[in-house]
Amino acid sequence: MEKTFLMVKPDGVQRGLVGEIVSRFEKKGFKLIGSKLMTISSELASEHYAEHEGKPFFNSLVTFITSGPVFAMVWEGENVIATARQMMGKTNPQDALPGTIRGDYGLTVGKNVIHGSDSTESAEREISLFFNTEELIEYKKDG
Ligand code: CMP
Repeated sequence: MEKTFLMVKPDGVQRGLVGEIVSRFEKKGFKLIGSKLMTISSELASEHYAEHEGKPFFNSLVTFITSGPVFAMVWEGENVIATARQMMGKTNPQDALPGTIRGDYGLTVGKNVIHGSDSTESAEREISLFFNTEELIEYKKDG
């Protein structure tokens, strides 16, 4: 079954949005198979955001994502990568539609509340960067 990596960013944790965000994915019907509150080291941040290295916002991105705790999650379900991206809304909250997480809770592209993998390859890479296999729980979920 398809898996994706989602992360409530430091602004979302500070604003008390973890429960709301988890609830949206639960109600949609996806299965939570791993989660943890954690702080990200500069090394992990640079590796996670390696594709953005060299871009003008890279340093501020690393500074921000390491500035406070994040809530890292792995979700499982049919087409979960693309559906989670739709539920998150566009990267820039100014362009994100109401009803999406960023449309409802974000204001700026830097502090955009949540990160989600954009492809199968990045999901696999990001899950293995943030979670050990024993931290992912396989179980049967009805409904
Ligand atoms: P995320 O999905 O976590 O992936 C890369 C992040 O870079 C993105 O969300 C934004 O929060 C952040 N970012 C900061 N500035 C910019 C920018 N000018 N354009 C795109 N992304 C940006």
